[in-house]
Amino acid sequence: MKPLRQQVMETVAFIEPRIKGSVDIGFLTGTGLSQTLSSLKVIWEIDYADLPNFPQTTVESHRGKLVYGRIADKSILVMQGRFHLYEGYTPRQVTYPVRLMQELNIKNLILSNAAGGINLNFSSGDIMLIQDHINLTGQNPLIGPEEPAWGIRFPDMTRVYDKGLGALARKCAADNDIILREGVYAGLLGPSLETPAETRFLKGICGDAVGFSTIMEAIAGVQAGMKILGLSLITNINNPDAPEQTTLKAVVETAQRASGKMNLLLCDMISQMP
Ligand code: HPA
Repeated sequence: MKPLRQQVMETVAFIEPRIKGSVDIGFLTGTGLSQTLSSLKVIWEIDYADLPNFPQTTVESHRGKLVYGRIADKSILVMQGRFHLYEGYTPRQVTYPVRLMQELNIKNLILSNAAGGINLNFSSGDIMLIQDHINLTGQNPLIGPEEPAWGIRFPDMTRVYDKGLGALARKCAADNDIILREGVYAGLLGPSLETPAETRFLKGICGDAVGFSTIMEAIAGVQAGMKILGLSLITNINNPDAPEQTTLKAVVETAQRASGKMNLLLCDMISQMP
């Protein structure tokens, strides 16, 4: 097998001639959120299957397409469909899109996901600005041989989610009459959902939302020196004292129902991003 960076550079060599100038923003979409950007003027889209060395998605609710386009004066590369540890991908495969973005010199990374609400003040359909995260996956994309071109060995994690982008999210939410929750995303391996005892534990360690994505990409993004915005769409509320059953179907339906709001927020934000 070729070294990982060489693989990424081959994907870069395929994409670079197809983009004009620099790309301002990279966006990884979450469950049920792949069509999130209505004002995106698509320039081209390529199935992951047609990208050299790119991992393939296995989850039906994730489409597996790379889309290049523009919103206002910003150019953006959207990964519709991400890779999850629970699918059996390694942390390095999960972060392949982030490394690709890094090698394309993309400085802003947007991560969206569907998540369960742990904070009982939240409602299903709410959007939560991720202020910080707790990595409970037991995994890390920086494990293994060091790749100096991708950053330092022990990146500082005290400022993962960019304060400026957070402030812009608050402003755009207010301008569009969108309630914006804020909190801590607890990232688990999945794919089994949480027991009430696990939910109680997540509450106890100050988690506000829980999900099975985002953390690996955020860690790689920090190492890459990217400004990161994380948004969770709360698709269900996990109350350990009155547990309700959750299904993927319900999660996807709620995410799709609320995706208009996510769309409005993101399109407004992207057009105003520095
Ligand atoms: N738990 C984990 N991941 C999720 C959930 C949940 O309750 N809802 C949507 N993604």
